[in-house]
Amino acid sequence: MKHIIAPSILSADFGNLQRDIEMINQSEADWFHVDVMDGVFVPNISFGFPVMTAVKKHATKPLDVHLMIVEPDKFIPEFAKVGADRITVHYEACTHLHRTIQLIRALGCKAGVALNPHTPVILLQDVIEDLDLVLIMSVNPGFGGQQFIHNTYKKVQDLKRLIQGRNEELIIQVDGGVGLQNIGSLASAGVDAFVAGNAVFATDSPTETISQMKNLTSNSLI
Ligand code: DX5
Ligand code: ZN
Repeated sequence: MKHIIAPSILSADFGNLQRDIEMINQSEADWFHVDVMDGVFVPNISFGFPVMTAVKKHATKPLDVHLMIVEPDKFIPEFAKVGADRITVHYEACTHLHRTIQLIRALGCKAGVALNPHTPVILLQDVIEDLDLVLIMSVNPGFGGQQFIHNTYKKVQDLKRLIQGRNEELIIQVDGGVGLQNIGSLASAGVDAFVAGNAVFATDSPTETISQMKNLTSNSLI
């Protein structure tokens, strides 16, 4: 399985957004990770449709939209309309999760569910066949640049067990505190897709960092 690197534009320079998008376009990254925060589900506000539209205009790679918002059903159609390829909602924000997943798929997008650090993987057992991706949060959502929570490794194992024989195509994604120091071991543990904000944008050469991340994940396959 090819590993996926998804730089989070939350850590980009918004004064030079087009430049940073072009950088990701030119790099070995696979997706753009788009972190939408509403100030209610998480204690921070990031951006919404205008920024998402601007990203779509310049991006040549799929947009992986991570909705950290309450009542996501209200906004999912608009995110699909402005160019989301994948939409991930939080388990904790969805009263009718099955319905939300169907809504995302009916709009032609891939459907993902994110789990906060305190939410056990087993809670997805009755929808696991309906999902394209599960995002295991390795920090408490809301901010970039936080420290990776080690229990994530155990959750990756739990998820691998859950998808066995039921949905082995499902993409296991990890988000928060991912960098050169742990990406190789996460890949060995079974993670397919890696979100990285600070680890990419806070370096002198983001393109080079992405390339190193790619190498570290592919080495784990040898
Ligand atoms: C956290 C966001 C992440 C965040 C990752 O709430 O979902 O995508 O931007 O940032 P880093 O890689 O800096 O931890
Ligand atoms: Zn995210």
